[in-house]
Amino acid sequence: ARLVVLASGGGSNLAALLASHGDPAYGARVVGVVSDKPGAGALDLARQAGVPSVVVEPADFADRDAWNDGLAEAVEVFQPHYVVLAGFMRILAPSFLDRFAGRVVNTHPALLPSFPGAHGVRDALAYGVQVTGCTVHVVDHGVDTGPIIAQTAVPVLDGDDEETLHERIKVAERSLLVETVGRVAREGLRVDGRRVVVGG
Ligand code: GRF
Repeated sequence: ARLVVLASGGGSNLAALLASHGDPAYGARVVGVVSDKPGAGALDLARQAGVPSVVVEPADFADRDAWNDGLAEAVEVFQPHYVVLAGFMRILAPSFLDRFAGRVVNTHPALLPSFPGAHGVRDALAYGVQVTGCTVHVVDHGVDTGPIIAQTAVPVLDGDDEETLHERIKVAERSLLVETVGRVAREGLRVDGRRVVVGG
């Protein structure tokens, strides 16, 4: 299966996918990386891996809708089977999601539905939970509200701050994302209401 990865940051999740996509048994290749940030580390990772990358910056467009259309065009060029959001910090418009209906997957560093949004790690820490984790889910028109495909629990340890906790979550998150994306790529994905069936 052909994957396009959207990333805004350092790209450690992208790095994990790139490390796996060489294995023919994995069943998925990252064919393109798209970022909203010209300096994103994810773009360097793509270049090092010989994967084409494109920057689609909001500043280059008249408004959010135009940017969303530009982003969809850039993604469409790669003809993806699935679009993976790996640390992509923008909300995608319904028009984008309808274009890739049911084929957009996101990873979130908390156990949804708890702590959605851009500060899931900080919010879990502030709340005082003893267990948090990460979630891979299908992207729907809400923010981090789509049907859940897979989750991993991660303990919060004494003395954790946002950074130490996020790093611990990311270790689990990278494995969960690679494993889940591989299964979806090999077996397909069917959404039935709130339930997701991989290999349906
Ligand atoms: C990941 O934890 C992702 O869930 C969150 O931001 C982080 C991105 O990390 N949205 P990286 O850029 O993949 O290293």
